[in-house]
Amino acid sequence: MKKILTLGALALALFSLNSCSQKSEMDRFIDDLMGKMSVEEKIGQLNLHSMGFRSSAALTDDNATVKALKEGQMGALYGFGGSPETMRQLQDFALQGPHGIPLIFGMDVIHGYQTIFPVPLAISNTWNTDLVEKYARVAAKEATAGGINWVFSPMVDICHDARWGRIVEGAGEDPYLGGEMAKAMVYGYQGHDDVFDETEVLACVKHYALYGAAEAGRDYNTVNLGRQEILNNWMRPYADAAAAGAASYMSSFNEFEGIPASANHYLLTELLRDTYGFDGFVVSDATAVQEMVAHGIGDLQEVSARALQAGLDMDMNSDGFVGTLKKSLDEGRVSIKDIDKACRRILEAKYKLGLFEDPYKYIKGERTDEIFSEENRALAREVAQESQVLLKNSGILPLSKDAKIALVGPFADNASDMSGAWAMSARASDNVTILQGIREALEGHKGTVSYAAGSKATAQPIGGGFGVGFTRNEGRQNANAKPQPTQAQMVAEAVAIAKRSDVIVACVGEPNAMSGEGSSRADISIPEIQQEFIAALKDTGKPIVLVLTTGRPLTIVWEDENLDAILNTWALGTEAGHAIADVLFGDANPSGKLTTSFPREVGQLPLYYNHKNTGRPHPDYDPYRKFTSCYMDVINAPLYPFGYGLSYTTFEYSGLSLSSDSMPMDGKVTVSVNVKNTGKYDGKETVQLYIHDVVSTSTRPVKELRGFKKIFLKAGESQTVTFDLTAEDLKYYNHALEYVCEEGDFEIMVGPNSRDTETVLLTVK
Ligand code: BGC
Repeated sequence: MKKILTLGALALALFSLNSCSQKSEMDRFIDDLMGKMSVEEKIGQLNLHSMGFRSSAALTDDNATVKALKEGQMGALYGFGGSPETMRQLQDFALQGPHGIPLIFGMDVIHGYQTIFPVPLAISNTWNTDLVEKYARVAAKEATAGGINWVFSPMVDICHDARWGRIVEGAGEDPYLGGEMAKAMVYGYQGHDDVFDETEVLACVKHYALYGAAEAGRDYNTVNLGRQEILNNWMRPYADAAAAGAASYMSSFNEFEGIPASANHYLLTELLRDTYGFDGFVVSDATAVQEMVAHGIGDLQEVSARALQAGLDMDMNSDGFVGTLKKSLDEGRVSIKDIDKACRRILEAKYKLGLFEDPYKYIKGERTDEIFSEENRALAREVAQESQVLLKNSGILPLSKDAKIALVGPFADNASDMSGAWAMSARASDNVTILQGIREALEGHKGTVSYAAGSKATAQPIGGGFGVGFTRNEGRQNANAKPQPTQAQMVAEAVAIAKRSDVIVACVGEPNAMSGEGSSRADISIPEIQQEFIAALKDTGKPIVLVLTTGRPLTIVWEDENLDAILNTWALGTEAGHAIADVLFGDANPSGKLTTSFPREVGQLPLYYNHKNTGRPHPDYDPYRKFTSCYMDVINAPLYPFGYGLSYTTFEYSGLSLSSDSMPMDGKVTVSVNVKNTGKYDGKETVQLYIHDVVSTSTRPVKELRGFKKIFLKAGESQTVTFDLTAEDLKYYNHALEYVCEEGDFEIMVGPNSRDTETVLLTVK
């Protein structure tokens, strides 16, 4: 199989040449150190544990972690945001180990550290890689100021199935877009070179691989895909992250080809290292090594040995490596070479971070004022503005600041659910609620806002799961303080307010706990209790703007048909309330575009725009026809397609053309299209380019994204947008798994989303 040598990989290769002398210095240092380490100490480096404590109170001599550190039995720790002071103490213990090897401190910094940015799925809706890189830079700056030097991000799993709760953590369904987002995040975390300053962290690309392809969207479930399919439609983000220089990967929980990812040699070695050129270390997901026992491929000793030999370097929380590898070595089940390889990779990461030079580099506690700064919050607000997707607008938006607004719904004044899943260091009290944002926006204007929650989010409280979001709720919503009104009383209060208002802004959707890890749903509609609430609002006859909080695409056909506007806000983080008010009043023009298709019915899942044609294709919007590939009870088209999102202005596309209608295999063509802002507002537009190989030796998708550009146009302004295409952009993995561009005709499609495209024909000779 050919290596994908992208520009990023080339730059990295050149850089590595330059830093050759530093490398050999590193090699000499590690050779010398490993020459002195015992086997037990080497295996100790392969061990990662969750910290589980925030303060130093637990750090007594009989604490298991303290003991392990002093004995050199721990390579790294991760946790929920302890203080630099606690981390300094832990580092002291590690330095008391046989050869004083410093610890790495990891954390799930998934969408910001303390300044919480929108959930990753929302951020991907910006289609703005510069902004994404800036956001990841801020996350890294804050995390390092808090002592962290390794973040378990980016999550780059492609997902076609909105039932999967973890769809919220990734960049959606498209491998090309996913790759662009992955690169931007790696650059933001690590910078563009191999040297780490004290504000840069090791990225950890996860979950390697294919975790988002869990059958039926059920978390941790089996993955059943073939090699050609994964190479074409699922692996690209992992490959691109390696090309960008990602320092580490996390192996996933799922199996592939009958072998769990954490012991899968094809994934961990043949693809990741030999094909994508990755040279960092791979950590397992939490207890993934031990879980291979339940997968049914052996006991803990067996699965640990298999994992090491497949290319896994570090074991998170299973104690499989520290507990059994020495025995396996003695029994000839693994070799010292296997252990050395893994140990070296981890020591290299520590060397690159500069920890051997200064183990306290990241835990000096000197930069804590950089956490949650005004500047960081301003960026979070900008990202939150661009992450929102206007799904429907009958013309009611933007709202006038003179309007009488009824702001209702369980998310209207809800601080903690603004954080979204996986916001480990978030403090709910930092989050700006929608009510606060609207109140501030209306200051100095004639408009008013009246608020009532109007409904519970769910009929029953949701059991706290791992997907809850980890936001520390510090009592802002002290729900238990006084007796709760009944649902009927809540609805009545909201309806009364609505009747006295010009417009209803209904803030509904999914609480944090309904998405994230272990939060798959078989019914992905708005919880029923809220649907009834919306129906009661509808009965008032007042116009309704639906503001959606959600971690996944929801089935909202009724809402689309019956309400006046729908603004999808996902979960926007610290600045949610400000950013939502900015968009509602038109101070920011929405420009987000979906990176996941919104199904009409859950029964359409998996649903994705880049599907194959079948031998009996059926046009997406046509009604049922027997013996073609469709359903009897719903059309094939999604409710909102991939790439879709409205603006307060309108953009007109014209003059799609190619610099030449044929291209030699080693040539280049330029695709041009004119885009004009024909509306009244200045606005941003994401111009999208798709390809379709008309005839290929193996079947290919009906459309494949191969380029996009986000542009800004003032009202009335136009711009010619161009894309350069070469054979590289037209390649795919054929049946023999060769990465090739085949001669013949290609449809080149450009448009504002995956549905509404214009086509020109290009012949490759
Ligand atoms: C998740 C990972 C996460 C890890 C450490 C696991 O359960 O799957 O995404 O990084 O825990 O918290």
